[in-house]
Amino acid sequence: MNSTAIPVVTIDGPAGSGKGTIARQVAEILGYHYLDSGSLYRILALSSQQQQVENDDLEALVELCQTMLISFEVSSVDENVRVFLSNQDVSGQLRTEECAARASQLAAHPQLRSALLERQHAFRVLPGLVAEGRDMGTVVFPDSNTKIFLTASVHERATRRQKQLKKQGIGASLDHLLKEIEARDSRDENRAISPLRPAKDAVLVDSTDLSIDQVVQRIVEIVRR
Ligand code: DC
Repeated sequence: MNSTAIPVVTIDGPAGSGKGTIARQVAEILGYHYLDSGSLYRILALSSQQQQVENDDLEALVELCQTMLISFEVSSVDENVRVFLSNQDVSGQLRTEECAARASQLAAHPQLRSALLERQHAFRVLPGLVAEGRDMGTVVFPDSNTKIFLTASVHERATRRQKQLKKQGIGASLDHLLKEIEARDSRDENRAISPLRPAKDAVLVDSTDLSIDQVVQRIVEIVRR
């Protein structure tokens, strides 16, 4: 079967817009597979750091993109997706702001983006896929049937991040988180290749004043329309 006949719902948006939680729930309701493309950039960041590969050693980084041994598993304890690098659970290490910032820097290199393209296409299998990230609707799956661009105000996104960190017992000031999110937005929006921006045919959903359930419902309605 031609893979372009397999349905894909893309959900793109900035850091902290709630893409992860929302995309997972939409995938579950539709019975589709789920791709968290950001985790691939985060794994590359972690793996290159572990192997002491410099951020500008593109040859070694491309090789890592092709050879990293990655797997995903849904935890039977909390139903969260666990990410494994060379069979080691690295889920916790991937969620740090340090890893996110390094991922965002690496993501600006065109060679690394194309080296990760094939890995992302491999997730497109029946009965369908919900893919979330920054360029799912614009570059990775431009033929997707439903494209969503999820936004929320910077303040709301920083507040959500603060709550998330608090749950993990980590304290962080709102001011600091605002600055971090703004810096990452600016890097993701202004890079020359695959910048964060809505596809021309994307539906914009602003989650600032909506609950997770409301956003999920709205997206499922759009898919089924
Ligand atoms: O979605 P996330 O926060 O896990 O993504 C981490 C970084 O990876 C993000 O700052 C930019 C980059 N990224 C990207 O460039 N393209 C994607 N499709 C997903 C993530």
